Amino acid sequence: MSRTPFVVGNWKMNMTKRSALDLADGISRGAPKGVQVGVAPPFVYIDAVVGELAGTAVAVGAQDCYFEKSGAFTGEVSVEMLKDVGASFCLTGHSERRHVLHESPDLIGRKAHAVYDGGLTVIHCVGEKLDERDAGQTLTVVENQLDELDPKRIDDPNRLVIAYEPVWAIGTGRTATPEFAEEAHGFIKSLLDRPVIYGGSVKPENAGDLLSQPSIDGALVGGASLEPDSFAAICSAASTS
Ligand code: PGA
Repeated sequence: MSRTPFVVGNWKMNMTKRSALDLADGISRGAPKGVQVGVAPPFVYIDAVVGELAGTAVAVGAQDCYFEKSGAFTGEVSVEMLKDVGASFCLTGHSERRHVLHESPDLIGRKAHAVYDGGLTVIHCVGEKLDERDAGQTLTVVENQLDELDPKRIDDPNRLVIAYEPVWAIGTGRTATPEFAEEAHGFIKSLLDRPVIYGGSVKPENAGDLLSQPSIDGALVGGASLEPDSFAAICSAASTS
């Protein structure tokens, strides 16, 4: 890994306001030097977590957004609103948005470009389902999901990160082997020269092996990011690999 590693905690639909603030505090204390650390709390806690982390190097972002700037879109949250409360990045295309909330590739692409055009960093998530992996379609699926982005419209490559998250590894305890993940990351980098972080059951026990792969630039962590010691151990593994 040659770039500054980037380790992001995706808190999903978890936490209360109190536990979110405690977790943010624990994470900022455990964040090692030499690693860029980010957290993505649920929308309603972003403002408070930004306040809690003020003066620390931990970035705060969102798990989702809507692509319109404002208007009659009941329940949605715009990139402008995220910026207003201090978010600096936003996930797009997370597998739960794709496969549980049934977002279309077109909607995901619009969201990714809205995040970028709004001045935030996009963490665009890609990854194949189990049947796609078994059919040998991993790279085709990933390439199609990268096509949701129009590289011509991204002139500041520092605000685009790709997260490779095989769907069969998310929240299942199954992790891609370091070799399998490395192949997918290498393929993504051959298409797009951007940092590529790995997600899918990253834990302190497997973080070192994954993060020491040359094309793995960090981690997107779900379950293990809800516990400050586990998350700190993953960040430390990133700092030493
Ligand atoms: P997990 O989630 O670490 O719990 O597998 C990763 C993610 O969904 O980003």
